[in-house]
Amino acid sequence: MFVSPCLDVNDQGHLTIGGCDTVELAQQFGTPLYVMDESEIRRACASYRESIERYYDGKGLVAYASKAFSCKAICRVILEEGLGLDVVSGGELYTALSAGFPPEKLFFHGNNKTPQELREALECGVGYIVVDNVFELELLGELASSQGKTANILLRIKPGVDAHTHQFIRTGQIDSKFGFALETGEAMAAVERALSLTGIHLKGLHCHIGSQIFDREPFEAAAEIMIGFLADIHDRWGRELEVLNLGGGFGIKYLSDHNPIPYDKYMEGISRVVKQACAQRGIATPLIVMEPGRSIVGAAGITLYTVGGVKEIPGIRTYVSVDGGMTDNPRYILYQSEYEALIANRADQPKDTVVTVAGRCCESGDLIGEGMPLQRTQPGDLMAVLSTGAYNYSMASNYNRVPRPAVVLVWNGTPRLVIRRECYEDLVRNDL
Ligand code: LLP
Repeated sequence: MFVSPCLDVNDQGHLTIGGCDTVELAQQFGTPLYVMDESEIRRACASYRESIERYYDGKGLVAYASKAFSCKAICRVILEEGLGLDVVSGGELYTALSAGFPPEKLFFHGNNKTPQELREALECGVGYIVVDNVFELELLGELASSQGKTANILLRIKPGVDAHTHQFIRTGQIDSKFGFALETGEAMAAVERALSLTGIHLKGLHCHIGSQIFDREPFEAAAEIMIGFLADIHDRWGRELEVLNLGGGFGIKYLSDHNPIPYDKYMEGISRVVKQACAQRGIATPLIVMEPGRSIVGAAGITLYTVGGVKEIPGIRTYVSVDGGMTDNPRYILYQSEYEALIANRADQPKDTVVTVAGRCCESGDLIGEGMPLQRTQPGDLMAVLSTGAYNYSMASNYNRVPRPAVVLVWNGTPRLVIRRECYEDLVRNDL
């Protein structure tokens, strides 16, 4: 019935998540409120982990892409689940370390890491730094040498795979700001440079072709291309690189008619292609790293809002305004992303109207969605927007000086506040 198995409706007709009544959650913690089901997150982690056991003989690692949702609590959950972590800034690195995440299980990404961030990564002993460009490669070599250290690196490669997703979240094609291009010889030149630098230990390669992708083919194509490149490196330099990180990007269910394939199918396909391609080219199979973000946390989360004004413009549309908007979910304004919403205090009633859900910011484009089926609603109702666990809190802002909402993790009917709601003092804390 719902886009996520953690959602249900109780005897009072209220939406529940992870066994908690959303109406009670809203009363206890206020709105807007992000709520995430911890068991759903753990289930997704286990599914990826087990797929590596099943299809790739356990010779792999799942690293959660924390840009999808980063805070200390989620880092601890990920650690308990035995996963690694992808961080993409000094801030995400700091969050992971503050949560006690072991640095050797971290992958440090980014197309323009600052010298300070690289120093921090070296100082704490990050497992792998994923190097994006020659400037960074040389800078890292110098910084590592000056600290008497060797940085374990992966080179970020653009495999030239054009995945079918929104152009802003597509990254594997040649016209992308990320990584070294294969076709132009840039990638091979980077390998040569990396092998020659003191302070650098080239451990492997990385690629990431985009996000919210439903097909298996682009992942399998990328895997095949990357194995080909590993083999070319072996032929040319006699070096077998041990690690192949194939990024994330696996699609999730935002709408009832979305049909993402089970996560383990990605690993099944990738494993088959990797094993075949390695056998053909006569190289050892590398350690495979997968980096899912959205598919670990996305469907586990919802956002609860209180409905305010309802404005019917005859013959045009009905605007239903909520007490949040682009400040907690900028994905409609950025990518026209579609969501399902419902009135959580009357979740058992049919959706008998179609509305535009508007946020509270001074901006006409501040919408959660247009043409959204919804129960007829009135001020004071509780609205739930579904599948907001990924790239919502992490992309939230204080535009219009709106404080960011709180985040609650629920587990078997028990809520746990993991990020406090911002208050007005938080907004002026750094003002001088
Ligand atoms: N690894 C790397 C290097 C990445 O750049 C990303 C996402 C991931 C892994 C995780 O991808 P996922 O499994 O979450 O698709 N803000 C956009 C998504 C941007 C994704 C950026 N990179 C959105 O809201 O759709």
